Amino acid sequence: MKSIQNVAIIMDGNGRWAQNRFRPRIWGHVRGAHVISNISERASDLGLNSLTLYAFSTENLSRPEAEVSFLFRLLDKFLIREEKKILENNIQFKVLGDFSFLNKKTLERISNLENKTKENTGLKLRFAFGYGGRSEILRACKKLNENQEEISEENFSKALYDDESDIDLLIRTGGDQRISNFLLWQIAYAELFFTKTPWPDFTTQEFSQIIQDTSKRERRFGQILTESIKEMSL
Ligand code: IPE
Ligand code: IPE
Ligand code: MG
Repeated sequence: MKSIQNVAIIMDGNGRWAQNRFRPRIWGHVRGAHVISNISERASDLGLNSLTLYAFSTENLSRPEAEVSFLFRLLDKFLIREEKKILENNIQFKVLGDFSFLNKKTLERISNLENKTKENTGLKLRFAFGYGGRSEILRACKKLNENQEEISEENFSKALYDDESDIDLLIRTGGDQRISNFLLWQIAYAELFFTKTPWPDFTTQEFSQIIQDTSKRERRFGQILTESIKEMSL
């Protein structure tokens, strides 16, 4: 079994990318949206099980209203534009988060695409929108409590937005080395990779290279190597 099957990306650096080119921040978001399409297709071609993309955090709601509403419109356009490709590639699409603040039309588009693709067996493409790791954890606690379920790691994982959720590799673009409230539970044993490349410049080549390189990392999960055990018993 391949060691990197579930990948998550913090798609950061759009605003700085645009500002460095003396353009408004939103221009960076437009370019970034096109990159999403290429990277998802590559993830699908590579045969990954899932790709979870951080598109809009709970904290991002506090940005200026013009940028926030632009991002909402961009999501809507993305859903219209990408539907065909998602269906053709047998991708299963789902949005994770509390995105109830979106307008009715966009909410409908999301649920239509989720329904249309729910039986698809290819890449599980997850879009984290209105997503916060802490609020996801609290939501899962409340869910277990309401259903009077035993608090176990297994039940807890199932109560998250996406029940099949452990991440093997977390990539962050844009140069910062932090998690910014993303998938706090799911990255417990993820490999981390930070690249200085801003999201609008992130290419399918760099993506494939990162996966290839991190696949070679030795993931020990707290254990020790068989080789070391042999050495110890000598
Ligand atoms: C990431 O890019 C996209 C979102 C958070 C919506 P940013 O908008 O955070 O870009 P920088 O980090 O300011 O460059
Ligand atoms: C993280 O980027 C959120 C997304 C990429 C959607 P931010 O730009 O919001 O993170 P901080 O503020 O630098 O931590
Ligand atoms: Mg940022």
